[in-house]
Amino acid sequence: MTRSSLPPLIAPSILSADLARLGDDVAAVIAAGADWVHFDVMDNHYVPNLTFGPAICEALRRFGIKATIDVHLMIEPVDALAALFARAGADVITFHPEATRHVDRSLQAIRDAGCKCGLVFNPATPLDVLTHVLDKVDVVLLMSVNPGFGGQSFLPSALAKLAQARALLDRHMAETGRQVRLEIDGGVKIDNIGRIAAAGADTFVAGSAIFGAGDYAATIAAMREQIGV
Ligand code: DX5
Ligand code: ZN
Repeated sequence: MTRSSLPPLIAPSILSADLARLGDDVAAVIAAGADWVHFDVMDNHYVPNLTFGPAICEALRRFGIKATIDVHLMIEPVDALAALFARAGADVITFHPEATRHVDRSLQAIRDAGCKCGLVFNPATPLDVLTHVLDKVDVVLLMSVNPGFGGQSFLPSALAKLAQARALLDRHMAETGRQVRLEIDGGVKIDNIGRIAAAGADTFVAGSAIFGAGDYAATIAAMREQIGV
C-alpha cells in the first residue's frame, strides 16, 4: 500500500454540526484546524434524506467563511443544482456518476463554472468510469458508508478500493503532473484514520467524530497525529 504524496486535509462534514448555529460552528471548526468544509447535499430521491441547498452555502459565505467549501452532491439529476452551487460560492463540487446521464458533460459544466470537480463512488460502485475521465477530475471521493446519514460505521472494503484508486491516481499524476485528491467519506475516526491514510487517502471527511466531540481542536490534532502530520 502507498500513501499519497499530497499533504493531508481534514474536512469536517456539516451534517453533524449544530445546525441551529451553523455559521458559528463552522467558524469554530475552521479555527480548530480543519482545512475544508464538507457540505453534504441530499435530495430525498438519490438518497433517503434531505439536507441543504445552495442558499445555505451562500449564507456561509456571507457569514464570512473563507475556507474551501467541498460540496458533495447526493442528488439526481446533477447539472442544474451544481450550477447553482458554483454561483453560491462552492470551490469543489463532486457528484455520483450514477446520478447523471452524461458524466463527462457534468464534469465539464462544473469546471466551466469555475469550480474543481470530482466523482463519488458508493461502496458497491466500481471505479470503471474513472479511467475514462481521469484527466477531468480534481477529486476522487470514495464512500466508506452507504450515503445518506452521518454516524455509520466505516466499511473495511473501502481500504482495498482506496489502494486501487491510489495506484490509478499515482500513475496519472506521474504521467501528467496534475494533482488529484483521494478523499474518503464515512465512519472516519481517530482510531481508523491511520489505516485509511496508509491505504492512500489524503482528504478525510469526518462528521460525527469531529462535531460529536467536545473539543474540536484536540480531535483534529489527534487525527493529524495518527496520519503523521
Ligand atoms: C454520508 C455523508 C458523510 C457523512 C459522514 O452520506 O456523505 O459526509 O456526513 O459522517 P460520519 O463522519 O459521521 O460518518
Ligand atoms: Zn459526504
